[in-house]
Amino acid sequence: MSDNQLANKSQAWSALFSEPMSDLVKRYTASVGFDQRLWRADITGSLAHAEMLAAQGILGAEDHAAIQRGLNEIAAEIEAGQFEWKLDLEDVHLNIEARLTERVGIAGKRLHTGRSRNDQVATDVRLWLRGEIDEINGLLRALQTVMVEKASEHADVILPGFTHLQVAQPVSFGHHLLAYVEMFARDAERMLDTRKRVNRLPLGAAALAGTSYPLDRERVAATLGMEACSQNSLDAVSDRDFAIEFSSAATLLMLHISRLSEELILWMSQNFGFIALPDAFCTGSSIMPQKKNPDVPELARGKTGRVVGHLVGLVTLMKGQPLAYNKDNQEDKEPLFDTVDTLKDTLRIFADMLAGLTVKPDAMRAAALKGHATATDLADYLVKKGVAFRDAHEVVAHAVKTATAKGVDLAALSLDELKAFDARIEADVFDVLSLEGSLNARNVLGGTAPAQVRAQVARHRVRLA
Ligand code: ARG
Repeated sequence: MSDNQLANKSQAWSALFSEPMSDLVKRYTASVGFDQRLWRADITGSLAHAEMLAAQGILGAEDHAAIQRGLNEIAAEIEAGQFEWKLDLEDVHLNIEARLTERVGIAGKRLHTGRSRNDQVATDVRLWLRGEIDEINGLLRALQTVMVEKASEHADVILPGFTHLQVAQPVSFGHHLLAYVEMFARDAERMLDTRKRVNRLPLGAAALAGTSYPLDRERVAATLGMEACSQNSLDAVSDRDFAIEFSSAATLLMLHISRLSEELILWMSQNFGFIALPDAFCTGSSIMPQKKNPDVPELARGKTGRVVGHLVGLVTLMKGQPLAYNKDNQEDKEPLFDTVDTLKDTLRIFADMLAGLTVKPDAMRAAALKGHATATDLADYLVKKGVAFRDAHEVVAHAVKTATAKGVDLAALSLDELKAFDARIEADVFDVLSLEGSLNARNVLGGTAPAQVRAQVARHRVRLA
């Protein structure tokens, strides 16, 4: 292709083509509108490739110097917003290569030696995604830190724990928050694990079969900080497992955000009244002056749907593809980009929002006193006095029935009333029937006793430092 043709591809791909593309087909097939986001990875990859070509004697020192200079100048142009992206040049790779040739002449045309856009694009997406994973893990750490500090502040605050959304047993609010910290810790672990498989080098696979030039692929991998070279050229250019893995880790992360959102929304409703979110994360209503709506968690719950959708999109994109590269793969980018953007914005906003969370311990406590939340504690108390658990369960069911009929909590029954159910009940029963007594009793690893919550806070602080 002559310089002129490369700069104006509307003509045709090469001498082989006699008909130009229509504007519609050009727009349909071009990816530069979105894949320009990969520019830095593209230049980083090209610099490493050129350096290796020179070291292997495939590229002359002068050409290498010209390529280096040209690519660095292009990076500066793009950074300054002065680069003109051309739809005619289809994608980020051809745009940068054409500009390089414009700037440094024939040396620019030598850059693509031993390389194809097929291994180039796979390399670019991996380099870009690796950086994004690192950022996401930083944001995950920040969010966890905020939540751990909130948990520490509220280790002694008691709210009802629910099963089936029915009051079950009292729990520490700090313990409840740390449940999400566990989820986010697993998300970070999954991201790190995914990163290993993202961080492998396809470059050198060329179009699909490898290349006839004596490339030093290990050298390129080392330059790019990649952990290994792909070991099969067909797999290298066609594999998008890493994108699907990332997307599924992202889906789980958003799932956790969505569950937390659902709780924040419930807790903020007048029917719970457990928390308030800072005004800056809520909106009013245009008609109802009294309203303050938890828009941020609602949107996060909603955006989870699009991240799940992108995962399904990627899986579907791959399922029918024969080896090796197919143009279908160009469709991997927008879902990945949107997933990354959604994740980063959501993590940032949640860290800020939760840092400003107001907790209403009185409302939580009142709710915990509503559903005989310490009934299990009474049963356990009887078991400790020698009653078989199943019998104790039955005794307590009768006590609960009586308390419900009187319209009071189990803990509000008098000692005489309780004794009527089992003579072994003594005055010390009230130690276990109180919310605090119930919490403190669960002083087992992973339990809700404030002492355990404080131990977990300490563990997380070390882990996140
Ligand atoms: N823009 C393409 C993509 O995103 C680059 C690879 C194109 N390769 C090809 N043989 N047409 O996948």
